[in-house]
Amino acid sequence: MGGAVYEIYPRTFYDSNGDGIGDIAGIIDKLPYLEDLGIRTIWLTPFYPHGGVDGGYDIRNHKDVDPEFGSIEDIKRLIEQAHNLGIKVMVDFVPNHTSNKHEWFAQSCDDPEGQFGNYYIWVDPKKRGPNDPKMPENVVGGDRLVGMPEEYTVPNNWTSIFSISEREKLKKQYGGTIPEGVKVPAVTAWVWHPGRRQFYLAEFTKEQPSLQWANPTVRKAQTDVLHFWFDLGVDGARIDVLNHILKDPELKDEEPVPDGEYDPNNDNPHDQKTQKYMVSYKPVLKLYIPQIQAVADKYPDRSIQFVHEDWITALKGDMSGDQISKLRPELDTAFNLARLLQTNKEGWRAAIHKRLLDLYHLAFFTDPDLIGGIPNEVASSHDVDRVVTRLGWHASRAAALIMLTAPGTPYIYQGEEGGFPNVRYEDIPLRMRRDADMGLRDGERCPMMWSRRKNAGFSDAPAANLWLPVDPNYLELNLEDQAKDPCSFYSLYRALLHTRNSSEELSHGGYNPMETDHQDVLAFGRSHPEERRQYITVVNFSEKEVEVAILNAKQNLARIAISSETVLTEDRSKVIRLDQGRIKLKPYEALLLEPVA
Ligand code: NOJ
Ligand code: CA
Repeated sequence: MGGAVYEIYPRTFYDSNGDGIGDIAGIIDKLPYLEDLGIRTIWLTPFYPHGGVDGGYDIRNHKDVDPEFGSIEDIKRLIEQAHNLGIKVMVDFVPNHTSNKHEWFAQSCDDPEGQFGNYYIWVDPKKRGPNDPKMPENVVGGDRLVGMPEEYTVPNNWTSIFSISEREKLKKQYGGTIPEGVKVPAVTAWVWHPGRRQFYLAEFTKEQPSLQWANPTVRKAQTDVLHFWFDLGVDGARIDVLNHILKDPELKDEEPVPDGEYDPNNDNPHDQKTQKYMVSYKPVLKLYIPQIQAVADKYPDRSIQFVHEDWITALKGDMSGDQISKLRPELDTAFNLARLLQTNKEGWRAAIHKRLLDLYHLAFFTDPDLIGGIPNEVASSHDVDRVVTRLGWHASRAAALIMLTAPGTPYIYQGEEGGFPNVRYEDIPLRMRRDADMGLRDGERCPMMWSRRKNAGFSDAPAANLWLPVDPNYLELNLEDQAKDPCSFYSLYRALLHTRNSSEELSHGGYNPMETDHQDVLAFGRSHPEERRQYITVVNFSEKEVEVAILNAKQNLARIAISSETVLTEDRSKVIRLDQGRIKLKPYEALLLEPVA
């Protein structure tokens, strides 16, 4: 793909018609901004007709645009105008589930024997014996089992990824803090359907039934969706929760996560970390991904790209075992989520990030299965707290410098370039909370802050009509003002992107692990193997000022090109002797050193 990808969450990017909701025409209006920032590809999260429960990931019709965002004509215009500016367009492909309002699901419910009868994962109920427990241990029905006859129980202990509501209920029950030793139950992944007198599987909300990927007709229907968008001119797809698409056909029980090993973001005894049985991973790689890849092969004169969301590999702790990127490295990559998971206060250690960067990026130059592949870096998305909220102001500027000087494709989430923090949960009025997951992801999805104008320049609508509220701090944080400040977050991103885009070494060069003489300082180099000069990224992970020597630089002389703290540096003209001198770094500062000709 080449260059940085910018993730757009259309609802809160830019509202062109004043109804309070961002739209496709709004994205078109902002293309020149993105081009000027140095973006080479945009990825749009779902803009399809949806059921309104999971930020668009509950699709009602895969081949259309929800009227609140615009029309197919608008998308065609967006593709054309983006292409005119040299910007590629990626869409979100959601293979695992649909909305329960999708025509396929309606037909599947009405006619079990019909064409769509086996489109979803339907399971007959089990009768429990007199001594059998009503529900598996630590699993509750929530509002999913309404109408289920007393003598039945769910098919197994699989649980919904969105079980956070149970934690919130318990918090209320205990007046704010859940006492130690009280386990938070998870909600079953099964939903009782009184009409079919069967359960259907729904690992996210109950309104998102999981498709039966073992059914070849489903696979064909879903790959047709990709054809539809590629025929329209789209250049690639981000593939949603790929690690979920195939379930264990034997429906074996999941092992609960051992105490103390829960995902801290999802205090749930059956979180994704150990979903061993729910997910049958290998067949996905062997049978299903090739079918997705075959779609790209129909467009031999285009360089179509796929990027896959695979939490299973990421949660194992590093991406060196990433199997997806090895299938056809020039076509598929998995998001490098392992480092994202350490981009927080606890994980911000030089040793942790050195290990992850070295393992991952070197593999793309040394592992024969990965050579020719495209590594990536990603620090935030519409699913995780914003990076400033996780790391604080200074370290997140350093994180940006690492991401934008490492090899491969950087993925920037809208507003990351402005250093926007999450809007605080307390600042989102109850009536405005949108996220299926108890509003917990709303904070990172609040509107872009473009200017000092009303609603931060996001929309002309009355504030009460906005999809989500604007950060009350927009007068300090907006992008228009930041553009005038050479040291702002925005100026840092823009400088890094422009430097990267104009440097062959930073765009396509190799990755050189480097050593320093300070345990809190990480360094890596970027150069082609035959070259004797390199760009060097050097990062102070500590809150103290440090002086450090880089031990294995290729060249002796360098100059500071960009500082994460000040962007432009007064030292720009000063030549540093890497073989003799020591480099001074402010607390949490990262520097990009450029070779001296
Ligand atoms: C991953 C998406 O990024 C997230 O926003 C969504 O809730 C889940 N997939 C379920 O579709
Ligand atoms: Ca609008």
